[in-house]
Amino acid sequence: ATSRMQPMDCSEIKITKADKLKPMPELNTLQFGKEFTDHMLIMKWNKDNGWNKPEIVPFGNLSMHPASSVFHYSFECFEGMKAYKDANGVPRLFRPIRNAERMLNTGRRISLPDFDPNQLVEGIKKFVDLESRWVPQERGYSLYIRPTFIGTDSALGVHDVGNAMLFVIASPVGPYYKSGFKAVKLCCSENIVRAWPGGSGHYKLGGNYAPSVVPAREAGKKGFAQILWLYGEEDYVTEVGTMNCFTVWINKNGEKEIITAPLDGMILPGVTRASVLDIARERLAPQGWKITEGKYSMKDVAQAANEGRLLEVFGSGTAALVSPVKAIQYRGKEFSIPLPAGKEAGPITEQISNWILDIQYGKEPNHPWSVPV
Ligand code: COI
Repeated sequence: ATSRMQPMDCSEIKITKADKLKPMPELNTLQFGKEFTDHMLIMKWNKDNGWNKPEIVPFGNLSMHPASSVFHYSFECFEGMKAYKDANGVPRLFRPIRNAERMLNTGRRISLPDFDPNQLVEGIKKFVDLESRWVPQERGYSLYIRPTFIGTDSALGVHDVGNAMLFVIASPVGPYYKSGFKAVKLCCSENIVRAWPGGSGHYKLGGNYAPSVVPAREAGKKGFAQILWLYGEEDYVTEVGTMNCFTVWINKNGEKEIITAPLDGMILPGVTRASVLDIARERLAPQGWKITEGKYSMKDVAQAANEGRLLEVFGSGTAALVSPVKAIQYRGKEFSIPLPAGKEAGPITEQISNWILDIQYGKEPNHPWSVPV
């Protein structure tokens, strides 16, 4: 039977075009992830035959057996990535192989089948090429791409995945928050943890996201846009909302430092996180900045704030790129982070964001992170 197992192969994709194409929405009316393109990419797998021939079909509802394992036991993981249009009108993906490799890795954790990540990137390129008119050219706007990988066995036993589907949909987007690019206030988590040692918080499982919504709603009622997820008795800073977290400060030794939590099994290995670190090591370290992946606690952050050493805090993710923070509530006290007059982000946040945006929109010629479709 193994000899008949087909690998994922996106060298040729059967395309069935939509009869009628949707009108393009006005960019300034876009709300994150509400509008979708005309088509979707679908690949199916089963344990006897392997991967079927990938297809691009008109965007539409999926028809699924009510016992499908995705509905019952969360056999689901996803990716978030974006296509940006360069000045020549060519759509570009940003480090897409990282998303494909992470999806493979997350999928393995929940028994989903292997595939060649290069083939997934190939499939996404063909899909984005077809949907090219949906990739906005204006800075700050992009086509958000959502690869989704699910178990589709129609039986209620909890067991290995024998049938699976990987599909890719896409949505033109602007700023992630309704309010646009604005610094936000955070509230530290108190009795709830997002992830723990030995857990699955470092995988991009849909199941990690649903439990964050009720605590976020409660924080929202008190005026906080996101939760700063702390861990353990030390109150280690881990992530912010659905993003990785960076702190810019003068550390206890008096050094200029940009610090983020290490990939210790509780932290989502963000592509934007890696890119912030890479670019900071390349371009800010030579200016005397220390770039650190290391554990640090909210107590340290509070002390830095009290001593005037806390410079900037920001979240990083594909959706928002960076999300600057202006205040953090911790143990009943609010610590504010001063922003330059008339600005929504500090200079380091802004500089890093602009460097990455330039690469994403193809303004830095031939940068290896930006992959034309
Ligand atoms: C991101 O910040 O890119 C995310 O992962 C958010 C996504 C769940 C919408």
